[in-house]
Amino acid sequence: MDDSTFETFFADPPASIDLNALDRTRVPRHISCIMDGNGRWATSRGLSRGEGHKAGIVSLREIITACVRLGVDVLSAYAFSTENWSRPKAEVNLLMHLFAKTFIEELPLLHRENVKVLFLGDISSLPEETRRVFEYGLAETRDHTGMVLALAVNYGGRAEIARAARLLANKVAAGELSADDIDEASIAGELYTAGLPDPELVIRTSGELRISNYLLWQVAYSEFYITDTYWPDFDRWGLVEAILAFQHRDRRFGGLSRAKGR
Ligand code: FPP
Repeated sequence: MDDSTFETFFADPPASIDLNALDRTRVPRHISCIMDGNGRWATSRGLSRGEGHKAGIVSLREIITACVRLGVDVLSAYAFSTENWSRPKAEVNLLMHLFAKTFIEELPLLHRENVKVLFLGDISSLPEETRRVFEYGLAETRDHTGMVLALAVNYGGRAEIARAARLLANKVAAGELSADDIDEASIAGELYTAGLPDPELVIRTSGELRISNYLLWQVAYSEFYITDTYWPDFDRWGLVEAILAFQHRDRRFGGLSRAKGR
């Protein structure tokens, strides 16, 4: 199937979606996904949780391509939190192996689509296979100029902010920075997301209404879209629905409504 253009990739929408209603000039620059529900998706089908994660990877691949076709600048996705280490060792090992395997398998896609990969989180302490593959992928896609794919792996929002505070304190101690000059921009500049726009739209699948220590600083003014769909069932049309919902939001950033002037 030719899916190389917006028109071919988004051909044949389901009847429930009015693609003409999508304003392609107002697609969020940065979309972020909390990919939840792989385990429940698998259990509900009598499959192992590992099968759920494999199916989740297929969804991620589709969403990466969809975001490229939509002209999104940054797609970020929560793959593994600092809290996920408390899962059974077998599941953690499987996830780490899947990350490495998938990453190698998807490199041709990342090359073809000119996608540049970044990691949010501390990848230095990952199992060696995963860390080496991720470092290889970083180097391989460093010069890509298209969409940024920011994968949160071994990521925690509070840990990220504490790390930024530590980095700034070290600069102050070294005489490179005055404590009085620390402001929001200097903190943002020490986060893993330094240089990226904040997410305009955060999508969480599987219906949970929480942020789970994800991008705590960066989501200050993000719009949230929660769907009951489990991540492995989330596809290009689910993404379009989320963007259509986003385009109906009245983003005020603490100010007054643009639409109503009040
Ligand atoms: C949450 O489902 C999902 C994960 C913990 C892993 C998601 C990772 C991917 C889809 C692949 C990422 C790929 C790379 C290369 C980094 P869950 O297990 O929490 O589901 P549950 O809440 O139903 O148990």
